[in-house]
Amino acid sequence: MGAAGGAPTALSSTESTRGSGVDGQPHLHLHVLGELTATRDGEAVDLGGRRQRAVLAGLAMQRDQIVPADRLVDCVWGDHPPANANGALQAYVSHLRRRLEPDATARQREGVIARAGPGYVLRLPPDAVDAWAFESAVEAAAGQAPGEAVCTLDTALRTWRGPAYADYAGEAWAEAEIARLAELRGVARERLLGTRLELGEAQLVIGELEALVAEDPLREERWRLLTLALYRAHRQAAALAALRRARQVLADELGVDPGPALRSLEAEVLAQSPDLDAPTPPSVDRAVELVPRPRTPDGLVDRDREMAILREKLDELEQGVPGCLLVEGPAGIGKTRLLDELRRLAVAAGTWVRSARSSALEQDFEWGVVRQLFGAGADEALARDERYAVLRGLCEVTTHLAEEAPFVLCVDDIQRCDDASLQFLTYLVRRLEGLPVLVVLAMRTGEPNRADDLAELVADESVILVRPAPLTEQGTADMVTERLGRGADAFVAACHRMTSGNPLLLRQLLRALADEGVPPDVAHIDTVRAVGSRAIASLVTLRLRRMPPTVTTVARAVAMLGPTADLVSVADLAQLSEEDVASALDLLARSEILLDGHPLDFVNPLVRDAIHADVPAGERALLVERLGRRLKSSSSHPSQAGVPTQ
Ligand SMILES: Nc1ncnc2c1ncn2[C@@H]1O[C@H](COP(=O)(O)OP(=O)(O)OP(=O)(O)O)[C@@H](O)[C@H]1O
Ligand SMILES: [Mg+2]
Repeated sequence: MGAAGGAPTALSSTESTRGSGVDGQPHLHLHVLGELTATRDGEAVDLGGRRQRAVLAGLAMQRDQIVPADRLVDCVWGDHPPANANGALQAYVSHLRRRLEPDATARQREGVIARAGPGYVLRLPPDAVDAWAFESAVEAAAGQAPGEAVCTLDTALRTWRGPAYADYAGEAWAEAEIARLAELRGVARERLLGTRLELGEAQLVIGELEALVAEDPLREERWRLLTLALYRAHRQAAALAALRRARQVLADELGVDPGPALRSLEAEVLAQSPDLDAPTPPSVDRAVELVPRPRTPDGLVDRDREMAILREKLDELEQGVPGCLLVEGPAGIGKTRLLDELRRLAVAAGTWVRSARSSALEQDFEWGVVRQLFGAGADEALARDERYAVLRGLCEVTTHLAEEAPFVLCVDDIQRCDDASLQFLTYLVRRLEGLPVLVVLAMRTGEPNRADDLAELVADESVILVRPAPLTEQGTADMVTERLGRGADAFVAACHRMTSGNPLLLRQLLRALADEGVPPDVAHIDTVRAVGSRAIASLVTLRLRRMPPTVTTVARAVAMLGPTADLVSVADLAQLSEEDVASALDLLARSEILLDGHPLDFVNPLVRDAIHADVPAGERALLVERLGRRLKSSSSHPSQAGVPTQ
């Protein structure tokens, strides 16, 4: 350890330590993965002001090394120490001792912050400081069996509440240690996903790997894992596309080619090398090892009804009864999550699952989804001349597989499925009788243009619709507790109102609140909205970017006008014809950005704020000026005026 300069001296390992609760000592814990805080027997310890806490931070960074007093002076005052710096430092130390060991006498109080040689040393056991424990856990995981390593890494990563030593970000003395811990966290996250990939969870880790890559696209290991996961999920085209993206980013940002690991992976993907294959699917014994993993940071809430349906359908499948479920709902309501839960249940029961996920990229790739589902097994059927013969051939493939063992056929995001595969799915659903196959499809509602293609499937009466509902206030409270600790009722209510019970928005919101160290109390209700709209901005703007530019203009005008926006005022402000505005409003409602109906309003306040904040400065100035003019000219027609918002 000891990354941040100074000349620390090792302390003998036989010296006593405190804080572990042995011998009746209180449990003392320091938390530095986030803002610096401490607890004593679970109760928060008041560590005093920023400077005083800097002493503790400076000591914790050096672990069990002696930290010279002048280095601590540096931590507290930087280049501008006061004339009596050493005296002031001693005062801070003695205040800290009193807070950390209130029950000890002044003489005994040298237990935690001990005077040693030219400075001080922190005497705490390795598990008493979260960063130390985190580091040990990452090291330990390296030597563990995969299932255990996943547990260890997952638990360790959840001790992070924000950037390490968050209160001292940007301080020269803290920089190196903050960067070192951030790097270690990055490595731990990569290892966690890499290990899950080895355990056969390719489908489940793709989303998280995409997020990791987006966070730091220059780390080649992340691209390697993502490519491998896509390949193992039978998405060879997407795997190659990921490698192309990696090449592009590295060329644009660094002017370099991918390193040897990515280059050889590319060759292996192209050659469909057997070395890339997933390990054999987990047997029931292995599955049992996977299931009791600690809950993920976002344990499932409010889905008892849906889970009961999934369980029932899986049980029926085991008895040879076929079925088709269609999970349907708006973006972020939890469709993919339900499919993930279904896969988990199936793996635990030893039932085979074949999965595919449609993507915008592959929508024009004929039979893309079918190939993901059956791989080379579909080749013979797909080579047939006539469409009808192909469909029959694919049904035969399905039948042969089902004869071996009942299985679940899972397709996510069918609103983006290629037409040919969609035709097969519709064809298959009608012919399930007698086939032990459970077809589970997920479809995002509100996507433009596909309604007609999907209508036939949705209308099939053998299809059971599952529509995950928005989270309840209790569900929201559970997620707040999990991420931020128990929240005040009013704080939870604010989170619920802001996200209208959408799990994706809530998750983004809570992650941002946790990163910024916002406590879930009444005093921070106002923070929820500001932090939340920033946190979801990129989600919303990404969705808008996929629509025609007039739609963005209209969405911005609605956001600027606020509650009194109507078709006429929006057309006026956006300077578009009322027909164009009407069709844009229609699309925004179908895309579930605006509520359907009148008055015009966004699906929730965070979406509105995100769109409002995203208006570029020039366009904003223009809109504000037009709004001003509107207001002036409307003084004679007050009912037509839109009330501009901030
Ligand atoms: N019931 C729930 N409890 C806790 N977290 C949930 C729940 N449902 C979804 N989530 C979390 O919310 C996020 C969004 O869920 P998910 O990706 O399943 O949405 P989706 O409906 O598939 O969205 P999209 O239409 O964009 O594909 C995920 O992080 C997921 O783990
Ligand atoms: Mg999804």
